[in-house]
Amino acid sequence: MESYTIAQYVADIRAIASEETEDAKIGERIKPLSARLAADKSWFKDKYRKIDEEQGFGLHLLHEEDNHDLAVFVIAWGAGRGVSAHNHKTWAVVAGIEGQEHETNYERLDDHSEQGFADLKKTHAKTLYPGTAVCCLPEDIHAVFNDGQETAVSLHTYGHHLNHTGRSIFDVEAKTEKKMVVKIHE
Ligand SMILES: [Fe+2]
Repeated sequence: MESYTIAQYVADIRAIASEETEDAKIGERIKPLSARLAADKSWFKDKYRKIDEEQGFGLHLLHEEDNHDLAVFVIAWGAGRGVSAHNHKTWAVVAGIEGQEHETNYERLDDHSEQGFADLKKTHAKTLYPGTAVCCLPEDIHAVFNDGQETAVSLHTYGHHLNHTGRSIFDVEAKTEKKMVVKIHE
């Protein structure tokens, strides 16, 4: 297959985001393209495997529009590291590049009325491998954990840059909700 560049991918996701109004449709149309870019790797750099030790993962920004829309990242997850339950407040498409990422999904049981409180219940879990892609809707809540022996790397595409959506991170045991901001490798 002909190589697929980040620039071509960005042009394709711009077209889809302008044609579709429903988040679910945007995600489903981007999914195969994201899997194609993840499989291509002609664009991939070794530095995308870098992890912020304190955070447990490394975010490498490949693209965002001037208004922070259409943010594309490579995220590297250290072996045995991950991120607790969180939402995105924007649509998301994730495609595996290397290694494996175990995803746990939750539903929210409370009515959002108490500031800082969230009651989550686990619904299902699955593992993402290279060659597969998954979509999330803005209010979906999931945790990601690298349950493999090596660094896991995946391609993440979001409707809006994650540090500009006002999203949350949850402590499932303590039943808390906090604002989530991540460190980015430029
Ligand atoms: Fe996520």
